[in-house]
Parts: sequence; structure tokens; C-alpha cells
Amino acid sequence: MHAALLHTHNLLRWVVLILGVLTIIKAVQGLSGARPYATTRRFTAMFMGSLHLQLLLGLLLYMNSPAVKAAMRDMEATMADSALRFIVAEHPVLMVVAAIVMTVGAIIAKNAANDAAKHRKALIFAGITMAIVLYGIPWSRPLFPGMT
Ligand code: HEM
Repeated sequence: MHAALLHTHNLLRWVVLILGVLTIIKAVQGLSGARPYATTRRFTAMFMGSLHLQLLLGLLLYMNSPAVKAAMRDMEATMADSALRFIVAEHPVLMVVAAIVMTVGAIIAKNAANDAAKHRKALIFAGITMAIVLYGIPWSRPLFPGMT
């Protein structure tokens, strides 16, 4: 169970990142070409959906992970160890914040006055979300499932 969750969580990271980059590209194209918001809106929704799915997997992983269980036994030692603290506290908190920023941003962008403002808001919020996600990913761990 834990291995399957971890592998899926690992792979879905790439889906999240690709959808984030595509959302930013679509918002830039929409702004520079004065295009309607529809396509950017679709990518914004897919990016947000991938973040929500990853949050759900992350939560299940948190409840099933032997590493988290072991870390919880001595929270003082865990907080003193930067690698353990990152996985048990910083990574989950940053990712929840990223998902909230994108969810609020998608609503704000959708309700903006005109297409240019919608693209601009989607660009700003997707940019902030991507910065948090990139910072919050534990890059020291395998880039793909099964890699060491
Ligand atoms: C966009 C959101 C997220 C992304 C992109 C992400 C990405 C990742 C990646 C790449 C790993 C390393 C996987 C591996 O070692 O193979 C990981 C591990 C982990 N993530 Fe996330 N994560 C996200 C959200 C969350 C959330 C919200 C939680 C908790 C509520 C969470 C909990 C964990 C835990 C506990 C591990 C380590 C599990 C273990 O070693 O047993 N993640 N995450």
C-alpha cells in the first residue's frame, strides 16, 4: 500500500509541474495575443485538480508512511533533523498552502472584469503556486519511482 502510494505520489509530481508550466504558457499567450480566457481557464482547472489529487495522495501517504510513523515517535529529534522536518512538517504545509493559493487564484481569475485581467490573474497565481511547489518538493528523493 505504502509503496504504491509513494510511487503514484512521485509520478504525479511531474503531472502537477507540467500542468503548472502549461497554465503559465497559456496565460502568457492569452495576454499577448488578446485571446479569450477559455483555454487558460481549462488549464487552470486541470492544474488545480492535479494539486488537489496530489494533496489527497499526500494525506494518505502521511497516514501510511513508516518514515512518518517513526519520525512521530520522537518529534523533538525529528524537528532537529532538517531532512526529517522537511518531509514531516515543511513539505505538507507548503503544499497545502500552494493548493489554497491556486484554488483562490482560479476563482479570482475567473471573476475578473475582462479576459486580459483573467489571464493576468491566472498568470500571477499560477506563478506563485509553482514557486511554492518547486520549493516544497523533496528534490533529494528519487526523481522517478524505483530510482535511487
Ligand atoms: C502538490 C503537492 C505535492 C507534491 C508535488 C508532492 C511531491 C512529493 C514527492 C516528489 C515526494 C517524494 C516521493 C519519493 O520519495 O518517491 C513526496 C513525498 C512525501 N509527501 Fe508529498 N507532495 C505533495 C503534497 C503532499 C502533501 C499535502 C502531503 C501530506 C499531507 C505529502 C506528504 C508526503 C510524505 C509523507 C512523503 C514521504 C513519504 C514516505 O517517505 O514514506 N505530500 N511528495
